[in-house]
Amino acid sequence: MELAMGNYRIQDVDLVGLATEFGTPLYVYDAEKIVHQLKTLTMAFSGSDVKIKYAAKALTNISILKLLRMYGSDVDVVSIEEVQLALKAGFKPSQIMFTPSGVDFSEIEEGVKLRVTINLDSLSALEKFGSKYQGEYPASIRLNPHIMAGGNYKISTGHSNSKFGISVYQLPDIHAIVKRHKMRINGLHIHTGSDITESEVFLKIAEILFGVARDFPDLRFLDFGSGFKVAYKEGDIVTNVYDLGLKLTKAFNEFCQSYGRKLEMHFEPGKFIVSEAGVLLVKVNVVKPTPSLTFVGVNSGLNHLLRPMMYDAYHDIINISNPGGPSKLYTVVGYICETDTFGSDRKLNEVREGDILAIKNAGAYGFSMSSNYNSRLRPAEVLLINGQAKLIREREQFEDLLRHQVEVDF
Ligand code: LLP
Repeated sequence: MELAMGNYRIQDVDLVGLATEFGTPLYVYDAEKIVHQLKTLTMAFSGSDVKIKYAAKALTNISILKLLRMYGSDVDVVSIEEVQLALKAGFKPSQIMFTPSGVDFSEIEEGVKLRVTINLDSLSALEKFGSKYQGEYPASIRLNPHIMAGGNYKISTGHSNSKFGISVYQLPDIHAIVKRHKMRINGLHIHTGSDITESEVFLKIAEILFGVARDFPDLRFLDFGSGFKVAYKEGDIVTNVYDLGLKLTKAFNEFCQSYGRKLEMHFEPGKFIVSEAGVLLVKVNVVKPTPSLTFVGVNSGLNHLLRPMMYDAYHDIINISNPGGPSKLYTVVGYICETDTFGSDRKLNEVREGDILAIKNAGAYGFSMSSNYNSRLRPAEVLLINGQAKLIREREQFEDLLRHQVEVDF
């Protein structure tokens, strides 16, 4: 997002103009940024045979999936519905990594029918899979490394009290099941959490994976999950993917030599690919001074962007319709009937009712975590590509709220 001649623009498209054309609230995504991020990661790990598996859950719009496929990404999915979306977006089954957590076994069987890569995250699922498919259909295993990492407890998935993966301390049980059913284990996977700044965490995961991998002779890939931290505000510490790339590809290539075969290196980035590419445009409904502070109430809320309330996440907010106004302090809140704060004590250019605010880093886990809470309608989504605005999701209408409700006549 750039400020040029008094207008905030992405790909030279005026954002206030988009708000007028498509209405607010509005999610806007920058295709150039998405592709740039994909290329950056691919470059950073190009010293090994790297495959980027975009974590669809971050932003599942089919046009975004298609865009990423077109530029060479594979995809990571966590539900059978995401498998179906990925197939619909044109991904081949071999490009789809399916890592469900705690699902009914029938959902895993469905994944096998669709020929995607299956990643198992419990001893129970491993046992069922082995007993049904033996070595006929390979499977990958998600391990829990007992490492605490990530920006917030809720998004830390690799510690000992996390529900994810099979504990590395249960390796003897894993081996017993694999041996009993003559299973073919084609991959090992660890995803430790989200918003990880330190390269050391990824290198530690690598050490664990290398140690475990030696005892699995049929591997095709090692999957390092994701968790790359991007900037949410100026000066934020981010994962240095180039530094990590150098260190990790070196260690990985050495491991492959000792393993006796070249393996693929997999990553499953969500935030890194789409977080910074998205903004949520909202309109100011009310400016409300109180004796202690000034609230800015906008026509959106935690129903559209849950992250500030769910994870205390910081999202930069800019008044894009009054860039020259004097700076003042505001608390920006949503219209949901409970505490619903986008940002406290923020310096914004003077805010007037009717102004358009841009909430940044809204590409990842924005729309995909949205809801109809308070019976509010979900926003439209627009993709900026080649300097043009394409509508990729229509704004919901009142009828959508009733679509699946069954009205009983009393
Ligand atoms: N792979 C697996 C198995 C995952 O569970 C996740 C995220 C990812 C990859 C992608 O991680 P990322 O690159 O986006 O950090 N809603 C939360 C984040 C939850 C992440 C869940 N799993 C948030 O908005 O911060």
